[in-house]
Amino acid sequence: MISQELNDQITRIGPETQAGAVLRRYWQPAALSDEVQGDVPVPVNLMGERLALIREGDGLLPITRQADPSEAPTHHPASGDIREVQGGPRYPAVDRAGVVFAYLGPGDPPAFPNFDCFRAPEDHVFAFKGLWQCNWLQALEIGIDPAHASYLHRFLEDADPEEGYGQQFRDKAAHTDMPMTQVLREYPRPDIQVDETEYGLRITALRHMANDLTHVRVTNQIFPEAICIPMSREMTITQWHVPVDDENCYWYTVFTSFKTPVNKEVMRAQRLKEHRLPDYAPLKNRENNYHYDPAEQERLTYTGMGLDINVHDQWAVEGMGPIQDRTQEHLGRSDVAIIRYRRMLRHAIKAVEEGDEGALPMRGADVTRLVGPLSNDSIAATQDWKSASRAADLARRAECPWDATV
Ligand SMILES: [Fe+2]
Repeated sequence: MISQELNDQITRIGPETQAGAVLRRYWQPAALSDEVQGDVPVPVNLMGERLALIREGDGLLPITRQADPSEAPTHHPASGDIREVQGGPRYPAVDRAGVVFAYLGPGDPPAFPNFDCFRAPEDHVFAFKGLWQCNWLQALEIGIDPAHASYLHRFLEDADPEEGYGQQFRDKAAHTDMPMTQVLREYPRPDIQVDETEYGLRITALRHMANDLTHVRVTNQIFPEAICIPMSREMTITQWHVPVDDENCYWYTVFTSFKTPVNKEVMRAQRLKEHRLPDYAPLKNRENNYHYDPAEQERLTYTGMGLDINVHDQWAVEGMGPIQDRTQEHLGRSDVAIIRYRRMLRHAIKAVEEGDEGALPMRGADVTRLVGPLSNDSIAATQDWKSASRAADLARRAECPWDATV
């Protein structure tokens, strides 16, 4: 557990806050590219600031808009309500991988790293987003807890992996015929290793199986508030947890295919069944108890809240309250990545305060040489899991139709 003062320091992100100052040193997802069409301004509520994006010619220009205090922070008003505040800040924005990124910080924005999601061609990436009613940090922390998938996302029956296109954990594990859902269910207590990297953290979950085999799952924390994880043998997920304000956040996900072009129509339709437009709020939510069904919980899922794992995560993080009370938490061994991440964030807060921005992850030397990150599932002989995991990643990259070499 931590003090209230420290909890405030690492969670609050308004313009005058310490964590807000760190997040403002990085590009932040502000909208899906699809949302900004024509010359209609799109309201963007980002890190406690009320902005609007407009596309001018080929480029994008975010403008400050006049705030109406009676509006809910996520409500999209008619575009006629948006007016530029004279003399207000004007922030740069760019389109990358189906997402509009904005830079709200001082000085020049950093370069983009050459991660797979930014290198893959347009037809091999698909972006979507969803609104969660909670602070961004608890949303991020569930993504760097590799053990939770064995419980929160437990399926009591395995679906046919052929039917699992575009869905997390519905593929076969590595090169075996074992469904990923079975691996997670049967080996619920992974050994977790965390390594600090130039971009954040590499998190390795080892599930020791029968016959001296080990399931190796490599995921990543990309500083400050993204994760990169495997979704299936074909795709990875790069996901940002972006603050709307202190008590709401969006997840923005870029799905990257290492094989065939992404079927954007199927993937968008799958997700629109679970979200409403225009604010991408989930249809299952606190007000309708996430469609909890005790009969389903009895026979099919751990949560009784359907097959969409985003709903399970949403319930878990919103259930902690608008800002998780970390003065009452009890971290355990499986929280090792969360502990390491908070330490990195505190170091970053100190670096910004001391004017030492070069000490921040991906704000120092040339970040364009950063590639990957390695993000996959493999099954290996226990004694050489490290080299086997690396070899599996290289094999996928070698067959990739776009240049994914590292
Ligand atoms: Fe999850």
